[in-house]
Amino acid sequence: MTRNTPQPPATEPVVLGIDFGTSNSAAAWRVGTGPVQHVPLEGEALALPTALFFNAEDHRVHFGRDAVAQYLSGTEGRLMRSLKSLLGSPLLLETTEVLGQATSFQDIIATFLAEIRVRAVRHMGREPTHVVLGRPVHFVDGDPARDALAQRMLQEAAYSAGLGQVAFELEPMAAALDHERRIARDSRVLVADIGGGTSDFTLVRLGPGRMRPGADRRADVLATTGIHIGGTDFDHRLSLAQAMPLLGFRHHGPDGREVPSAVFFDLATWHLIHWRYSAKAQREAQALRTNYTDPALHQRLMRVLSERLGHHIANDVEQAKIALSMASASGQTQTASPVAMDWGYLERGLQSEWPADVLTDCLQAPLAQVVACAQACVAQAGLPAGALDAVYLTGGSSSLTPFRAALQQAFAGVPLVEGDVFGGVAAGLAVG
Ligand SMILES: Nc1ncnc2c1ncn2[C@@H]1O[C@H](COP(=O)(O)OP(=O)(O)OP(=O)(O)O)[C@@H](O)[C@H]1O
Ligand SMILES: [Mg+2]
Repeated sequence: MTRNTPQPPATEPVVLGIDFGTSNSAAAWRVGTGPVQHVPLEGEALALPTALFFNAEDHRVHFGRDAVAQYLSGTEGRLMRSLKSLLGSPLLLETTEVLGQATSFQDIIATFLAEIRVRAVRHMGREPTHVVLGRPVHFVDGDPARDALAQRMLQEAAYSAGLGQVAFELEPMAAALDHERRIARDSRVLVADIGGGTSDFTLVRLGPGRMRPGADRRADVLATTGIHIGGTDFDHRLSLAQAMPLLGFRHHGPDGREVPSAVFFDLATWHLIHWRYSAKAQREAQALRTNYTDPALHQRLMRVLSERLGHHIANDVEQAKIALSMASASGQTQTASPVAMDWGYLERGLQSEWPADVLTDCLQAPLAQVVACAQACVAQAGLPAGALDAVYLTGGSSSLTPFRAALQQAFAGVPLVEGDVFGGVAAGLAVG
């Protein structure tokens, strides 16, 4: 990373915007009223996957792609992903052993934020004078007390990470501020930020005439809605439909009853996978043996737990989701090209195929909820859908083909504008 920007006069504020995402994090900065610049957080890459790997061989913590690659290559250690999903939950304060030390999940979030801070300061060549952190519209749906607790927990983690006092901004508002820098006329825009953990909507008045540094833009926000559904929930459903049956989910035992499903639900949920690796959880899974008619399925389950292959499966499910979505975006579903999942690391020669229409079938219900949340945002502002000038799409899951189709159907005739999918929120946070 380079120190490529001249030092500003000491009086100019240096704003660092940090988008701590469920799946990916990003940062951007701005000196005074100068241009917003991204901070490359991992080599040349702007986004840093929100992942930590506690390497038991070199006894160091690794971050981002490096963390995921080390885990997938079989290095001994622990992978942590999707930590943002624990904010607002009592689980966040529980401790877990990493590198021989009892550590709370909040401390693990602080470790991640501290690494972002170190990388950003190294790139900027100076300390920020102001830090703005993004937050979803709701960390927790329908529970204002737990939602406020989630923000406090994130704030405490930021404080431990050496970020000092931080201001918070709604993630979709930040995306809107970033989009505004590129539009030529006043518009009413529905900003849709469909991420890994949440889907957030803001209906906002944007335009070149409204952009004033430091301006209070609350009056331009016409409505805000959000729902705790995102890409990790899609992964969860797809895992239950396409992967977990290979380990015994929905399998019937000799008594005709299904194998108890709790273990499969946890293995299909990014932030719960590691709970299933404890000795106690493995004993419980071992005891399920009598619930299986086919012992081979139970052996696979035990292998996943004892060899800690849960994140491996979750990662493969996510990659298959993205591959299938991209294939259908380019029209390849017409030729019905299924995506193969290779389970060779679990059992030699084992493969499973995802039919081309699995995304539409499996994700219909959550996508309908996300689209309803978008419609609720427009309704809250008292506007007919046709009054929108555009729907601005950001967040990785906004690329999901069946989501775009459902949204376009709900907002017929309104242009869908594709934004900066992974960097837009951070850029908007740095606007200050
Ligand atoms: N081409 C694609 N098609 C479908 N989903 C995708 C695609 N690319 C990435 N995703 C999904 O996008 C999600 C990550 O998006 P993003 O980085 O915007 O989330 P985040 O900011 O970390 O989450 P949040 O804002 O909810 O905290 C992941 O679930 C990933 O699987
Ligand atoms: Mg996000």
